Amino acid sequence: MITLTDKDLFKTKGYINGQWMESSDQTCFDVDNPATGEVIATVARCGSAEARKAIEAAHTAYGSWRQLTALQRADYLYKWYELIMTHLEDLAYLLTAEQGKPLAEAGNEIRYGAGYIRWFAEEARRIYGDTIPQAANDKRLVCIKQPVGVVACITPWNFPNAMLTRKIAPALAAGCTVVCKPAGSTPLSALALAELAHRAGIPAGVVNVVAGSTRAIGNELTANPLVRKLTFTGSTRVGKTLIKACADTVKKTSMELGGNAPFIVFDDADPDAAVAGAIVSKYRNAGQTCVCSNRLLVQSGIYDIFMEKFTDAVQKMKLGPGTEQGVAIGPMITTDAVNDVDAMVQDAVDKGASIVTGGKRSGLGARFYEPTILGRVTSDMQVFREEIFGPVAPVIRFDTEAEAIQMANDTEFGLAAYFYSRDIGRVWRVAEELEYGIVGINEGLVSNEAAPFGGIKESGNGREGSKYGLDDYLEIKYLCMGGVNK
Ligand code: SIN
Repeated sequence: MITLTDKDLFKTKGYINGQWMESSDQTCFDVDNPATGEVIATVARCGSAEARKAIEAAHTAYGSWRQLTALQRADYLYKWYELIMTHLEDLAYLLTAEQGKPLAEAGNEIRYGAGYIRWFAEEARRIYGDTIPQAANDKRLVCIKQPVGVVACITPWNFPNAMLTRKIAPALAAGCTVVCKPAGSTPLSALALAELAHRAGIPAGVVNVVAGSTRAIGNELTANPLVRKLTFTGSTRVGKTLIKACADTVKKTSMELGGNAPFIVFDDADPDAAVAGAIVSKYRNAGQTCVCSNRLLVQSGIYDIFMEKFTDAVQKMKLGPGTEQGVAIGPMITTDAVNDVDAMVQDAVDKGASIVTGGKRSGLGARFYEPTILGRVTSDMQVFREEIFGPVAPVIRFDTEAEAIQMANDTEFGLAAYFYSRDIGRVWRVAEELEYGIVGINEGLVSNEAAPFGGIKESGNGREGSKYGLDDYLEIKYLCMGGVNK
């Protein structure tokens, strides 16, 4: 049972052209609470017909939305931001109920997500063009920036609020309209955001949300020529499929995909700061975060003290339902996710890893996995090569800086990396050598709306947030004016 102060934030239909709609075939799907397995909502299962309707509505709305002044669009975004902050507690509660993360973390996600809306309300007024020194005296060369058009946003279950706002906000600021497909396990946060966008007066068709059949909606969003851009956050495997599907209509894409973040602790690091950073970067959201540290590389001279303090800190973390007081780690999203993590731990143990703490399912329920540290990890283990997406910290001992950089870069992923050192020369050397889009230096929590979020290599393309975050929603148009001297 979900009890909200504002009951109207609990929405279970698709939001298309400013209206709440059942699916055309009247089918539904269930959403459950990962902590208990209890069904908390039954939501209209949208398919290709609803996706098409939403795209057409977005296309019609685009005609007038793009004509508003930047200030008018910004004012709508500010209003939306204010409503989200006013309803923070309900939104956090809804998020914990469908996703599982501790309530305090859910509240932080709502603030973080709203931060993108405020940021892009501000940035909307700074979409500048350029003048170019002319190549011939009778010509004048100018670049203007224009919205891309209708944008499809496909978002994951691990941050059901913030991943959506950091796509919708820049799109709307740029003058685009959107059709959003939230993850099937966490649609309620997205639908509540749509309700608040509606209350903010954002015109019908500018924001549309269709939850339901991943395949049917995904096919329509990628094939429909009215969609001019697709932005996706999720796995590298699905991202590659979407890029291929978008090729036929040559859509612009931006992809925020998987990671395999190294977290390097050098001998000269502050061990307490490194432990605090490792806790936040590894166990945030039960390890279900693309930028979570995936491999802890610890230099020999600091290894013992780091391991002692890290183990102590992990053993103090309380596992439990996100609504319970003092809980630091909630359930994982599904039992399949628990099985995958457990299989990776078994693979590591079979290949010689030691379990320092945890290493098994918890008795609390089917989706709870104990916060885990693995020692003696080697590069042939799955936990070294693959994105773990769970509360498991594999630790690898190293001797030299060169060895650490080689191991850190030995992956097809390139999203986030972290390292701890107090040597200023090393800080620059290592920061420059790491093949990653984001590097945390003596810091385990790197995400915020003012900074560019995104990866290189198979972790994706494009950047979200920051002054760069608008670029992916804009086209550059070059104007060449001749005959100036006639
Ligand atoms: C993600 O896991 O994709 C997002 C994490 C973040 O925004 O910090």
